[in-house]
Amino acid sequence: MMSPKRPFLKVAADKGEGVRKALLESGLLDVDYKIVFQDGTLSLPLCQTVQREHLDSILGPIDYTTGEMDFDSQSGGPKTLLEALEHRLSPEELELVPRAYDLIGDIAVLEIPEELSGQSETIGQAFHEVHRHFSTVLAKKGAISGTTRVREYQYLAGEDKTDTIHTEYGCRFAVDLSKAYFSPRLLEEHNRIAQLVGNGEFVVDMFCGVGPFPIHIARQHAAHIVAIDINPDAIALLNKSIALNKLVGTIEPIVGDARDYPKNHVADRVIMNHPSGAFDFIPDACRILKPGSSLHYYDFIGNENPEGTITDKLTHLVETAGHSVTRIDLVRRVRDSAPYEYQMVVDAIIE
Ligand SMILES: C[S@@+](CC[C@H](N)C(=O)[O-])C[C@H]1O[C@@H](n2cnc3c(N)ncnc32)[C@H](O)[C@@H]1O
Repeated sequence: MMSPKRPFLKVAADKGEGVRKALLESGLLDVDYKIVFQDGTLSLPLCQTVQREHLDSILGPIDYTTGEMDFDSQSGGPKTLLEALEHRLSPEELELVPRAYDLIGDIAVLEIPEELSGQSETIGQAFHEVHRHFSTVLAKKGAISGTTRVREYQYLAGEDKTDTIHTEYGCRFAVDLSKAYFSPRLLEEHNRIAQLVGNGEFVVDMFCGVGPFPIHIARQHAAHIVAIDINPDAIALLNKSIALNKLVGTIEPIVGDARDYPKNHVADRVIMNHPSGAFDFIPDACRILKPGSSLHYYDFIGNENPEGTITDKLTHLVETAGHSVTRIDLVRRVRDSAPYEYQMVVDAIIE
């Protein structure tokens, strides 16, 4: 039976096996559909549309093309979540079924609207029937909150677990969703910052979580990264990830309050990705930075002129701390964080 069109990657057949293995290991190969061999090429079905930069980082320097096409499924079961739920939900409920999900290692995380909360397990089971390659299906429960920024999850289907190994841009992260913050939606930002770092830099990540910025940086550059988080579970996961990756830089994990970091004017770069709380730590960031060095400041900002608002806010906070912003290198919308709100970043030079 044919499926609706799926994203795929096409490569010369002699490169096919290496590419198949790399996609499988990254959780991107959709194993529910049959690979197509035609005219000396292999077309491999993907779980989702993947950005070219991400594919390049996984596959290395090879020629390939991407697109969408029909694939034969491996089994005769339902092909889409809506098809699997057709006889289990009303037409009104089907309208509300989520079309997108987060992929974290071998765990799928659904965001089920309030109106369907009584049907969560039915939806999770159906999702797992369609996407057998995920070990676990969870649903987000409530908002991210508290100092450690961890949310609760509802178990829906598959193996009952919250830990996994997640891969982005070839970096491998030990993640436990019930213990420490991790978002698969920040991959481009993690990689963007890592590309700005030079060999020999001293970097302080004041709110490192499970350490995506430090791991990205230390995989690419011979830099030293101090990685601080107040959540001991986040640092334990970072220690696991340090062992999982081939690093050229060094990471110094610290469990503690970023305010207590004792060294002054040591850092060439400070990363403050704690958008709900970083504004309170600007005096500490200014104290840790060498004069004339780079600050990456993150904040949640409403959708009216978010670029101007975050720039003014940072400038005011830095001046109140007795320092000055001498240059703004970039202001960027990282992602939508809520209706009418963005997670924003400013790259600034602080004197
Ligand atoms: C948004 S999350 C981490 C994001 C991480 N940089 C990433 O990209 O995945 C913010 C982190 O700040 C940590 N945190 C909160 N208050 C802190 C403090 N006073 N000192 C150090 N870490 C803190 C939380 O435990 C949490 O892991």
